[in-house]
Amino acid sequence: MKNDLKDLQLVLDARVRLIVIESWDELRVLETLTSLAVQRGMNLRVWSISEGLQGMAFGGEMLEGSNLPERALRLVKADPQTGLYVFFDLHSFLENDALLVRLVKDIAMAAGPGKPTLILVSHALKLPAELQRYAARFSLSLPSEDELLAIVREEALRWSEGNRGLRVRTDNRTLQQVVKNLRGLSHADARLLARSLICDDGAITQEDLPELNKAKFQLLDLDGVLGYEADTARFADVGGLHNLKQWLAERQAAFMAGTASDLPKGMLLLGAQGSGKSLAAKAVAGLWGLPLLRLDFASLYNKYFGETERNLREALLMAERMSPCVLWMDEIEKGLATGDMDNGVSQRVLGTLLTWMAERKAPVFVVATANIIKRLPPELMRKGRFDEIFFVDLPATAVREDIFRIHLNKRELSAENFDLAALAMASDGFSGAEIEQAVVSALYAAQARQVSVGQELIVEALQRTVPLSVVMSEELSALRHWAAERTVHAG
Ligand SMILES: Nc1ncnc2c1ncn2[C@@H]1O[C@H](COP(=O)(O)OP(=O)(O)OP(=O)(O)O)[C@@H](O)[C@H]1O
Ligand SMILES: [Mg+2]
Repeated sequence: MKNDLKDLQLVLDARVRLIVIESWDELRVLETLTSLAVQRGMNLRVWSISEGLQGMAFGGEMLEGSNLPERALRLVKADPQTGLYVFFDLHSFLENDALLVRLVKDIAMAAGPGKPTLILVSHALKLPAELQRYAARFSLSLPSEDELLAIVREEALRWSEGNRGLRVRTDNRTLQQVVKNLRGLSHADARLLARSLICDDGAITQEDLPELNKAKFQLLDLDGVLGYEADTARFADVGGLHNLKQWLAERQAAFMAGTASDLPKGMLLLGAQGSGKSLAAKAVAGLWGLPLLRLDFASLYNKYFGETERNLREALLMAERMSPCVLWMDEIEKGLATGDMDNGVSQRVLGTLLTWMAERKAPVFVVATANIIKRLPPELMRKGRFDEIFFVDLPATAVREDIFRIHLNKRELSAENFDLAALAMASDGFSGAEIEQAVVSALYAAQARQVSVGQELIVEALQRTVPLSVVMSEELSALRHWAAERTVHAG
């Protein structure tokens, strides 16, 4: 609040008469403005459509008829003192009302000292063009980590008092994570979330984190271009990719520490279809215990025609507000393909993305995946864009054993009952997705024949499948050839 007050002082010193504050947190806006009024020895009056114009100077009562915007604004205009007037939700009345717009403009343009200042407050506020240039926009600062910690402590104390002095259970690491994940929220929202985490069970635990992230995402209203993926994977569910896993493990601490200079930026996963790229992207969030956001290129292009880059910029800003987080850009070639058909939109989208990747300071770890390298713009591949470019190849024999084990166990077919080495031999050239498919189709076959799933049913399923690596063998070897020189092998 201290910095907010200082900034507001500057605005007043500059004799700006019209201030716009966008915020959901009306209480905090009022608190801040009240402190400001006290500091400067000014009167503060508040207007809303329901309560009219009220203020300390009027003994808390509504001035006659002042719930009408016109009358309220005339009172402000006629005020001979340097009062602060806070108007909630006035902007909706300003649309198509030339008289009201004029009154606001009169107040905004009043010259000389000793004039009132009008402060418009709403959660989202668009001024008519006539007023734009007279208004100073101001936003309340978001709480710092110290303030967030204080908020969580206060809520814990409050719960304690309501529960016969029982203490809220938590541990330091979880508390730190919660505080980090509350970043980007307003004071009021952070408090609300902290309260709901504590209230259900009197504890703040690791299990609260996914719920917290989801609630935060909804509060920030990021739905649409950016999707929240509740379903993060565990690396235990990903066979192979040993290099990739080790690379990530080595960078987790640096990412969490969040010091801007050597913050890991992200990685690009290239590879064959069904080789587990998307799965690995999800597992990064699982491994690091971070929220996973997905940038949906399709809705980026479709949603608001002609506003593609602005949408992207907004989505990226929102990802920063959700930080620390993992931002997953799946099938990036579809979003950034270099085409002449779109009037350069994809080129500009690429530019926006690259600029952001170079300049962002917030801990947002980008995981991009692609499988058609021919359509990837070369700028994206240049050194330094991503920390590393990994090639995800078809799984080697030993990895195929792991993948069979993972998918058999997932379906409660104990992997010990199978000869995994033989299955791995029989699935040469299969992708992880195709291996999973074979297990699933063996399961269906067993159901149909009313037998239990055995080795031979899986082998049968494998033999019925022509893997993509055979169908597309030329493409695949070209891809491997290309990747050998430019990428690191993921596994
Ligand atoms: N290495 C792996 N370990 C375990 N499961 C795997 C592996 N690779 C693929 N799978 C299984 O196959 C499914 C599909 O894989 P995924 O969607 O991650 O592949 P992809 O590389 O993203 O393919 P595409 O290029 O078609 O998008 C996964 O959800 C998972 O169940
Ligand atoms: Mg995929």
